[in-house]
Amino acid sequence: MRKAVIPVAGLGTRFLPATKATPKEMLPVVDKPAIQYVVEEAVRAGLRDVLMITGRNKRPLEDHFDRVPFIEQTLEAKGDHQKLAAVREASSLADIHFVRQGDPKGLGHAVLRARSHVGDEPFAVLLGDDLIHEEDEVLATMTRVQEETGGSVVALMEVSPEEISAYGCADVVSVGSGDYVKVQGLVEKPEPGSAPSNLAVIGRYVLHPRIFDILEDTPPGRGGEIQLTDALQELAASQGEGAGVYGVIFRGRRFDTGDKLSYIKAVITIALERPELGDSLRDWLDDVKAPAL
Ligand code: G1P
Repeated sequence: MRKAVIPVAGLGTRFLPATKATPKEMLPVVDKPAIQYVVEEAVRAGLRDVLMITGRNKRPLEDHFDRVPFIEQTLEAKGDHQKLAAVREASSLADIHFVRQGDPKGLGHAVLRARSHVGDEPFAVLLGDDLIHEEDEVLATMTRVQEETGGSVVALMEVSPEEISAYGCADVVSVGSGDYVKVQGLVEKPEPGSAPSNLAVIGRYVLHPRIFDILEDTPPGRGGEIQLTDALQELAASQGEGAGVYGVIFRGRRFDTGDKLSYIKAVITIALERPELGDSLRDWLDDVKAPAL
């Protein structure tokens, strides 16, 4: 597998007014925009061909992954090699392509826009809002499960009953000794109380290209949008080449950078691990927790 698709056309309404003129994916997590962590994760999993499904107002993403000769020359002249390397990193990470979604018809529609770029091979989908801690890898495991089963693979995470209606939810059965489960059914954002499990689909998928044929015929579902979850439900229930959906249960650290609290947690978690920031931030957090009387 070589290709990753990153849908980034969403409006970021949960983060208004910060996202009025800036794409949500460009909000900084310490000193890099959130989207860069997602691209870095794809590259760590060996996926250097990245296609972003963008929309209006997403130009800053293209600029971020492009070279900026003026800044590079200035840093070079100053001899600031550390910053120079940081600036160059984003433009040399991967081969990044962009296609616009056009109509905002939902995640399934966004993924279908990748069809001609991806062709007839399995590919990964990484949602730009989901930031997975770099020590807690999941894509490589999902890729292996895809190769073993020949189907499609979703990443699942246990969440509380109150949280499940914000996610796609999977009904699963165990399959012998494997480190994955078989998905029997999927429902997008179930009503509280009617969820088939507490397993939420998080924003990492490894998909068989057969998903494209299904997406072509998937009618609008929840929220009037063409849902990737609905297409996966059909794939789970189908037979033959590329059929079957499997789940890898993720137990690591995942942040939703489109959500204010989770975004703040991501910033603090990553800042605490930075040598130049960690100790001072830790001291300050201790003071905030236990203010002097
Ligand atoms: C999307 C998917 C949903 C999934 C979620 C993960 O929803 O439709 O199935 O659980 O991403 O973040 P969204 O968050 O875009 O509403």
